[in-house]
Amino acid sequence: MQRVAHSTLFGLLALICLAVALFSARYFMPSPIMAEGMAPHLQARPVVFLTHVAGGVTALALGAFQLVTWRGPRRRWHRVAGRIYVAACLIGAGAGLALALTSPSGPVASTGFGLLAVFWFGTTALAWRKAVSGDFGQHRRWMIRSLSLTFAAVTLRIMIPAGEMLRLDFAVAYPAIAFLCWVPNLLLVEVWLRTWGWEASPPAPRRFQDTAASAGSPPA
Ligand code: HEM
Repeated sequence: MQRVAHSTLFGLLALICLAVALFSARYFMPSPIMAEGMAPHLQARPVVFLTHVAGGVTALALGAFQLVTWRGPRRRWHRVAGRIYVAACLIGAGAGLALALTSPSGPVASTGFGLLAVFWFGTTALAWRKAVSGDFGQHRRWMIRSLSLTFAAVTLRIMIPAGEMLRLDFAVAYPAIAFLCWVPNLLLVEVWLRTWGWEASPPAPRRFQDTAASAGSPPA
């Protein structure tokens, strides 16, 4: 029963992520519908902007599936997609930081998105290092944190129309959303990891990793 509930939840989250990724990919089409405040970015720094969107879209599209492919017959996919996810996050975060520092929405929005970029880069880089060193317990925990930040792209796109529906002034709501789109996500997974989440496991000795990799343990 619990397994069915988990699969349904992960399936739903994956679908939402895919939908937002597809919608965001519109920036690669000629004359896309622009979100408010994005025209200056696209005009002044198209390479940085499109690099960010490419990184974000790739991370979002792949990330949700990583949670269901880490064991079983799809482990090979998990390894390949995991490397692409890490590269997409690091590139997306670098370009996201550059966008944040030049955000037309003011210093508070710049700080919110800037910190998100730093945390996104940091959690993903740590998750990757833990996988490379064979510490899969910590790898999963850092990846969950990274994914919660990738999911900020979804919460942001729910909060902006919600703010409009509540008739909040965009100039006031947007800087707040620059924090609200990711801080609660990170806090929520932190509480989950500490309360019910996977236990951190000590790094496996190299010899065990080699044997385990062929016997069906979680991959890097
Ligand atoms: C989680 C770390 C992320 C950071 C730090 C970040 C940062 C930013 C920043 C600073 C902007 C410009 C906002 C402004 O100047 O007001 C932006 C816009 C954008 N970002 Fe991200 N972003 C992140 C994740 C993502 C992801 C995962 C996607 C994938 C869908 C994405 C897609 C976009 C798109 C499409 C825009 C243009 C605005 C829009 O269409 O809503 N970003 N991002």
